[in-house]
Amino acid sequence: MIHVHVTTWFLTLILFFVAVYLLKANKQKPLKIIQMVLRLFYLLVLGTGLHLLAAYYQFQGAALIKGIVGLWVIFCLEFILTRGGKGKPTKIFWIQLVIALVLVFYYGYVVLDY
Ligand code: HEM
Repeated sequence: MIHVHVTTWFLTLILFFVAVYLLKANKQKPLKIIQMVLRLFYLLVLGTGLHLLAAYYQFQGAALIKGIVGLWVIFCLEFILTRGGKGKPTKIFWIQLVIALVLVFYYGYVVLDY
């Protein structure tokens, strides 16, 4: 299940950057499609993450923090794309995204790496 989680969040990040490119290039139609696929991937990341959290960590300790930070990453991705699509400022969410990503990788690969 960890492999499925890693594969889904990896593809989520790729799709997000494709969506950011489409947003900047003002390609509305492909952007809408990628955003729909992305939302499906958010659910897959969330589902696999929740499964790991329940099956191996009983929703406790550092893994719980890791899960909350993972959720924060997903919120940042969604906010950047929806606010960006409306022409609203996204800088504050980019800053949060960088912080959340550093934390998620720190928890995923340093704290929980055994
Ligand atoms: C885009 C968002 C996310 C990213 C980038 C991410 C990233 C990662 C990374 C790098 C790992 C370590 C993989 C490894 O040890 O090989 C991991 C594991 C894990 N993630 Fe996520 N994650 C995200 C979302 C979530 C969510 C939403 C949850 C829970 C609600 C979650 C729960 C977990 C759990 C429980 C583990 C297992 C830790 C372990 O046993 O090593 N993740 N994730």
